[in-house]
Amino acid sequence: MKIIKVKSYGELSRKVADFFTDEIRGNPKITIGFATGETPLGLYKELVKLYKLKKIDFSKVKSFNLDEYYPIRRKDKNSFYNYMFKNLFDKVNINKRNINFLNGESKDFEKECLDYELRIKNNPIDLQILGVGINGHIGFNEPGSKENSKTRLVNLSKETIRRNSRFFKGSIKIPNKALTMGIKTILSSKKIILLIYGKDKKKAIKSLIKGKINSEWPVSFLKNHKDLIVFVENSLLSKS
Ligand code: GLP
Repeated sequence: MKIIKVKSYGELSRKVADFFTDEIRGNPKITIGFATGETPLGLYKELVKLYKLKKIDFSKVKSFNLDEYYPIRRKDKNSFYNYMFKNLFDKVNINKRNINFLNGESKDFEKECLDYELRIKNNPIDLQILGVGINGHIGFNEPGSKENSKTRLVNLSKETIRRNSRFFKGSIKIPNKALTMGIKTILSSKKIILLIYGKDKKKAIKSLIKGKINSEWPVSFLKNHKDLIVFVENSLLSKS
């Protein structure tokens, strides 16, 4: 595990964007796993800036997203599908045919999950971005998730529903389930970048760096990954 300390959110976003530029330049046909939530928003803004400066070319990049609420319409403003197009995919030259997303509208979620696993098997993820929930979830693998879990339908924890409801102001009620890549799916990525920022993530980073692997803190499963880079706000590593 490599730890890169950052002093600010801006520095985190810029450093990860520079890392991305090198990775995509080195492998233009790279397959990237994207995450949602607040943490990666600054990164996506930086990637759009670099694209406009012609420093990044997404035309051959393939994408998979970690998770999606279920059920939710893709066009719903709170879907992760909508989040990705609004914050990145509609602003760069990614080929829409190369975008893979778990479908929150699918009628047969089991088939949807099996199909997604197959697509990932056929296009292994070279670089997976992750944030972490305050309860240590990665994707929507909540506490209690198994290390060998694959893409599946999950129940969201009360904590996640409460925290993520901040995005569902005055619209549909936040779904209490989601489709998510599993822990095993995530760990199959060749390289993982974990972005951690915000004082409410202190326990999560501690469980990764100091704790033992523990399914109550799913982020701790990343300790077993051979190529994990953690970009973390400096203050989260202080003793206090
Ligand atoms: C959501 C997403 C995760 C994300 C987490 C943290 O539940 N499913 O992929 O990492 O919340 O989000 P934030 O960056 O907003 O704290």
